[in-house]
Amino acid sequence: MTARRSIVLGCGSYLPSRIVTNAELARKVDTSDEWIVQRTGIHERRIAAPGELTSQMAVHAARAALAHAHLDAQSIDLIVLATSTPDNTFPASAVSVQADLGITHGAAFDLQAVCSGFVYALATADGLIKSGAFSRALVIGAETFSRLLDWTDRGTCVLFGDGAGAVVLAAQEQPGGREDRGILVVRLRSDGRYKSKLYVDGGPSSTGTVGHLRMEGREVFRHAVAMITDVVEDAFRATGTTAADVDWFIPHQANRRIIDGSAHKLGIAPAKIVTTVDRHGNTSAASIPLALADAVADRRIKRGDLLLFEAMGGGFTWGAALVRW
Ligand code: ACO
Repeated sequence: MTARRSIVLGCGSYLPSRIVTNAELARKVDTSDEWIVQRTGIHERRIAAPGELTSQMAVHAARAALAHAHLDAQSIDLIVLATSTPDNTFPASAVSVQADLGITHGAAFDLQAVCSGFVYALATADGLIKSGAFSRALVIGAETFSRLLDWTDRGTCVLFGDGAGAVVLAAQEQPGGREDRGILVVRLRSDGRYKSKLYVDGGPSSTGTVGHLRMEGREVFRHAVAMITDVVEDAFRATGTTAADVDWFIPHQANRRIIDGSAHKLGIAPAKIVTTVDRHGNTSAASIPLALADAVADRRIKRGDLLLFEAMGGGFTWGAALVRW
């Protein structure tokens, strides 16, 4: 029996031009390049220009993904934008993306699952495509985390950066097995008991302010690897695949130690890991499509390759997806 799958037709990304190195941060807070590199693997991050909006970065990434897919924006009927840093509380930044792309049909909305946002958005778009309600989707992760940071808190301000990444999904009938192209499975989890481990101390219904990111870094680190491996193993079981079948591991780019620890526990060879955290820092929902676009641009990823995405972040939320390119 054939299966309606969401095929990835193209991907693209956008990074603001301003590079902030560890050395520059060390002039503002009590830190050092050595400390940041050793604990996180981050060497530099990009920071949005004053006035540069999340939706504008999302549009740049979306246009790049459409160009890569050789598609016109008019063929898109669904936009799901994963972000925790929208332009405004409402309307959704996704409708700004829709308007900037000149699309007046279909639907556009934001989705908020912090660093797991891209995996959640992928699951949402995949479900809507499989239901038959939509046929071509832009799934975007875009963030301006620099605007949420307390730039006097060395424990958090060194970790994050700004950027955007996007994929174009299209409905396509496939034979109906694990060799199919497209999204084979997405698994999502959350556990709100951990909501105070990583949060923003403001919001429209609490303080009426935007607030700043607060984190118990050790607690996040302590749970990350176990949660990631658990949901990835669930995705393997659901598809009858194993770590040996994965061609490219494209994790959320939070921290080099979490990435390497997860790969090690899953039994994924270091040569299969796609890493951009050294250049981008943690760009939250944008990090997976940014890393994906990087590995597609340099031709590491080839048609038929099996890609494993995973993410974990505030909530806690976490999830994993297996996608055949
Ligand atoms: N520079 C220098 N020293 C620092 C810095 C810094 N930027 N930040 C903290 N320190 C100090 C602390 O003050 C502390 O000093 P003390 O011993 O005198 O009190 C010391 O370093 C150790 O602090 P810890 O927080 O215990 O350091 P740890 O080894 O846990 O590393 C880190 C901190 C890198 C945040 C780590 O906990 C981590 O990677 N956690 C995961 C967090 C993460 O990736 N979050 C991203 C969002 S969630 C996600 O996307 C998965």
